[in-house]
Amino acid sequence: MKFLSAFLLFIAPISLALPTSVIERPVEDSIEARQCYVQCGSTCYTSSQVTAARNSGYNYVRQGSTAGGSTYPHRYNNYEGFDFLVSGPYYEFPLRTSGVYTGGSPGADRVVFNGSGQRAGEITHTGADGSAFVACSGW
Ligand SMILES: *[C@@H]1O[C@H](CO)[C@@H](O)[C@H](O)[C@H]1NC(C)=O
Repeated sequence: MKFLSAFLLFIAPISLALPTSVIERPVEDSIEARQCYVQCGSTCYTSSQVTAARNSGYNYVRQGSTAGGSTYPHRYNNYEGFDFLVSGPYYEFPLRTSGVYTGGSPGADRVVFNGSGQRAGEITHTGADGSAFVACSGW
């Protein structure tokens, strides 16, 4: 008992003296990792945003329809030659940081999935020439 109190007296000042940045950084890192599951240009997407876009896009493919009078989803021919996670044929569908794409301007970022709805990767016009795409990070 005496030993335990002596031990606690010894470690208490040390833990109190730890800088808060050291204690808090792992939490900040994990939140950032979740928000930046995929990053296209400076835009971060969570895993659920990427999954929601892919599921929505694949549902349209299965129904043979598109989102709100747009042309999306449509075939993506991979002229850029990305080394995707799965084999094609591929479809592209716009990514959203809020909700899912329902038509209108598609923005710069896309999910790409194959004819079985499997994740191929994510791509963006941000940082690419003209109508070309570059890969987002995270796949
Ligand atoms: C989607 O990719 C998987 C894994 O590469 C493959 O097994 C499957 O046949 C692909 N689906 C289509 C429709 O190409």
